[in-house]
Amino acid sequence: MTKIAPSILSADFSRLGEEVGRLEAQGADWVHVDIMDGVFVPNLTIGPGVVKAIRPFTRLPFDVHLMIVEPERYLDVFAQSGADIITLHVEATKDVPRSIETIHSLEKKAGLSLNPETPFEAVAPYLEDVDLLLVMTVHPGFGGQSFMEGCVPKIVQAREFMDDHGIHAELEVDGGINYDTARTAIEAGATVLAAGSSLFRSRDMRAEMARWRQLRCQKDD
Ligand code: DX5
Ligand code: ZN
Repeated sequence: MTKIAPSILSADFSRLGEEVGRLEAQGADWVHVDIMDGVFVPNLTIGPGVVKAIRPFTRLPFDVHLMIVEPERYLDVFAQSGADIITLHVEATKDVPRSIETIHSLEKKAGLSLNPETPFEAVAPYLEDVDLLLVMTVHPGFGGQSFMEGCVPKIVQAREFMDDHGIHAELEVDGGINYDTARTAIEAGATVLAAGSSLFRSRDMRAEMARWRQLRCQKDD
């Protein structure tokens, strides 16, 4: 079953708690939380204080996507703030195995992400050790960008590698996901869809997620 993780980057930040609070009833599986430092990406979002503040509004797992340099400096603080899955970028840290180990020692799930221009080979050596691979299908930094079709072969490559090696990590796709690209991502082998603008701008988020779930059924048939 494909999971759906609405990205609160596209939520109304003036009432973030409320926005997070309504996601479970609308059918979300996880809450995707984008953390940006203005260095790794040209944008700034929220920090651990906000993550902590919104934590009591839902029981859904927090899927925390760190788009920050030297993420190892902040693993502990995000774990304390209520993250359930902590994903860092392979381009952002010098010591991937150690960061993964640290996240696991904090009793959280560890994810690894890669930018559109980064080849799959950069993450392959670590996949046995992670709980999630997050494939970016836009240049990270902003919501509302178009899905990069050129990243689809990489999703397929990741799916094949994981199947061939008996790796059961989640395969999440993030960036430009809407009804049409959700289908593309699912067909390529994604197990989790992170999506911001298409869900938060839809008139009825619950109905929109339900449509995406139909896609999954068609594929499974
Ligand atoms: C982009 C973020 C994404 C973003 C997705 O840097 O990592 O999670 O919120 O937004 P949409 O779905 O609008 O592309
Ligand atoms: Zn993200």
